[in-house]
Amino acid sequence: MSSQIKNICCIGAGYVGGPTMAVFADKCPFLTINVVDLNEERIKAWNSDDLNKLPVFEPGLDVIIEKCRNKNLFFSTEVEKYISLADIVFISVNTPTKTKGIGAGKASDLKWVEACARQVAKYSSGYTIVVEKSTLPVKTAEVIKTILEASPKNQEKASFDVLSNPEFLAEGSAINDLENPDRVLIGGENPIAISLLSEVYKNWVPEKKILHTNIWSSELAKLTANAFLAQRVSSINSISAICEATGADVREVSRAIGSDTRIGPKFLDSGPGFGGSCFKKDILNLVYLCQYFGLPEVANFWEGVVILNEWHQHRISKLIVKKLFGTISSKKIAILGFAFKANTNDTRESAAITICKDLIEEGALLLIHDPKVNPTQIAKDLGIDENKNNLMKSKNPNSPDGEWSFTDSIVNALNGADAAIVLTEWEEYGKLDWGELSKLMRRPSWIFDARSTLSPKKLKEAGLNYWRIGDGS
Ligand code: NAD
Ligand code: UGA
Repeated sequence: MSSQIKNICCIGAGYVGGPTMAVFADKCPFLTINVVDLNEERIKAWNSDDLNKLPVFEPGLDVIIEKCRNKNLFFSTEVEKYISLADIVFISVNTPTKTKGIGAGKASDLKWVEACARQVAKYSSGYTIVVEKSTLPVKTAEVIKTILEASPKNQEKASFDVLSNPEFLAEGSAINDLENPDRVLIGGENPIAISLLSEVYKNWVPEKKILHTNIWSSELAKLTANAFLAQRVSSINSISAICEATGADVREVSRAIGSDTRIGPKFLDSGPGFGGSCFKKDILNLVYLCQYFGLPEVANFWEGVVILNEWHQHRISKLIVKKLFGTISSKKIAILGFAFKANTNDTRESAAITICKDLIEEGALLLIHDPKVNPTQIAKDLGIDENKNNLMKSKNPNSPDGEWSFTDSIVNALNGADAAIVLTEWEEYGKLDWGELSKLMRRPSWIFDARSTLSPKKLKEAGLNYWRIGDGS
């Protein structure tokens, strides 16, 4: 049946659209796939000969792009043209939290999704399956359907089905997640449309992993999956605080509870608080839906997950100040890791943003290191320009303001530092030679490991004071 589907258009060449369509192209060489975006820079980067310049860093992505690009995978800004050629259109555009108007701060801003629906209605020809790939509030399919049916069409004969097919990939492991998904979820009404999309996935996903639901269950399942995952992180982070207060160790508690097969071992690593573009946004979206449907107790339950996460990040900033004798004004602090997790260049909602802002507010001089994040992005995230001069020299000791600077050398970051804080679990941080590095630091020197990546034994041997997340010993 897959032969009926020959041409796919994906609107949105972001973290989801790019890698997802790359894997589709690789697994289905008989399909022609066009990924379109309004952002010319982004499309240029996807078409770049230098694979290090792809707009998304994901292990394994460059290999697939090299293999499929300009064979059956194309990146373009010609949105209308490729909509008109497509049998299936994926909508994979951004759905951020609304910043103003009704539902500001919680509800999803659907203006980009609506714009896509209007373009699809206008330019598609014949029968087109429109697939929601973006994460959307429950009932968005109804909005898309209404727009498709009411808008002026390119062709009298144009007809549509709308399906929900949310994406569950995690950044840093996107290619593996797409190639070996735990499940593929397809929600919809028309069994023919569901079957056509399933046939595409069946080229590499075992049939038993392709779940069919009604469209509202599919939309809600995506929000629920993210809410449950984030809830686990907030739960274990809340326990880390009790561990520190009581002498328990959160890693031991995680191991003990994770051995219960009903709980399971994954997603029980206590860290500096969850980040990423989606957990907070999707939970707040769920909270808004609960409020809208008159369920305040349910809304409060889920909002607690986000409130705990924010509290936890500030908790870490405060304890750092406390351990450094109650003041960090003019103290040099090395920040190891700025991405929201390892193996990605994404900093959206990274715990490092909150913690660095808190420390700068207290007057610290931060030397920030990250193997994949660039200083322009960090400046944008912190809302503070980088001081590119030597911080120690440029700083007026009487000024209460903190500053930050980027460095690609860990030695440089630690030279003369009072403390180092590990905020992202990059593998290279676990291999550092603290015996040597400790000699560069000002004494007494502190290491704060918010990711449990360092060896406490080696830090102790190097004569360093150390704090580790959830370690009450
Ligand atoms: P992104 O911001 O990286 O990419 C979205 C792209 O859509 C942008 O490049 C933007 O220019 C483009 N766009 C917006 N409106 C357009 C239009 N009308 N025509 C053409 N292009 C348009 O976003 P993302 O991280 O890829 O996320 C996309 C969706 O997938 C969101 O709903 C998100 O919640 C969901 N999601 C994200 C992840 C993730 O790991 N990032 C995982 C699963 C689901
Ligand atoms: C998450 C989900 O895992 C994906 O299934 C989903 O598709 C995606 O959101 C989305 O909808 O955007 P992602 O945000 O890329 O993926 O990364 P995760 O691995 O889930 O990590 C999220 C945050 O939680 C990170 O800051 C990470 O460091 C933190 N985390 C995760 C912990 O602190 N401890 C853990 O045990 C696991």
